[in-house]
Amino acid sequence: MGRGIAQVAAQSGFTVLLHDEKQSALDAALKHIDDHLERQVEKGRLAPAARAETVARLRPVTGTEAFAAADFVIEAISESLALKERLFERLDGTCGPGVILASNTSSLSITRLAAATQRPTRVIGMHFMNPVPVMELVEIVAGQATSEETIETTRALAKTLGKTAVLAQDYPGFISNRVLMPMINEAIFALHEGVGSREDIDTVMRLGMRHPMGPLALADFIGLDTCLTILEILHAGFGDPKYRPCPLLRRMVDAGRLGRKSGRGFYDYGPGGAPA
Ligand code: CAA
Repeated sequence: MGRGIAQVAAQSGFTVLLHDEKQSALDAALKHIDDHLERQVEKGRLAPAARAETVARLRPVTGTEAFAAADFVIEAISESLALKERLFERLDGTCGPGVILASNTSSLSITRLAAATQRPTRVIGMHFMNPVPVMELVEIVAGQATSEETIETTRALAKTLGKTAVLAQDYPGFISNRVLMPMINEAIFALHEGVGSREDIDTVMRLGMRHPMGPLALADFIGLDTCLTILEILHAGFGDPKYRPCPLLRRMVDAGRLGRKSGRGFYDYGPGGAPA
């Protein structure tokens, strides 16, 4: 999701330090962004000059030292609390004292991340939705110590990025995944128990409830491993059996059927994640 966030920020006029430890990941991200901008130009939605300006605002970096010059940081690394805590600790030592450190985590505790730093009032969740350039929402998550000033600055940034912000308190799943994941999990239970076929379950939600994608197709889109991780966080965090991940979801993840990214989930996908 980092590249989507970087694209939106660059298109909104910000100079972006796009960080990854691997140069190959940065090259792939820049190509992905430029390809997307090119399609926008072809469709007549973006001026060629705006495409060039956006690309010029993206500065790929492999080290975190460059963040000494950053005004605001949005982290979007893998969903591992240990990895994020380590990165936040490092950023805390590098960034200026007034800089806000935001995490795009979809379910990890902002309060725990904040505790890894000496600036807990300036740590916040900034949860974007996939695909970032298309989805209007940013879920802002206030940790135990996040200050009002940090919340307001982050709200203003979300607005500048062309997004609508909502505020959630820091409890497992925040608002978005606390509501979304039980629906996806229930759809998987319905498939597991033979209530309906994958197509019929998805069609009910697409045509009956006007969701752009059915829940099983959406689970493939998000990644079945990600869905399982979030459900486990909800289950452990609330201790409530209603969040118990469906055994079919576990089995599919164990089998490496992770959805679009692995070419196979509830549906089969061709190259680039297109439906097969
Ligand atoms: N990156 C950038 N843009 C993308 C894109 C991507 N990965 N995928 C699609 N788009 C753009 C297309 O370029 C197109 O833009 P234009 O209208 O400017 O041409 C637009 O989206 C529509 O795309 P398509 O016509 O190809 O396809 P579609 O109409 O079927 O829409 C969709 C695709 C936007 C993904 C739509 O199916 C949708 O909204 N699905 C639901 C997505 C959703 O629920 N996302 C949230 C997931 S939860 C999450 O992210 C957070 C979490 O914590 C788990």
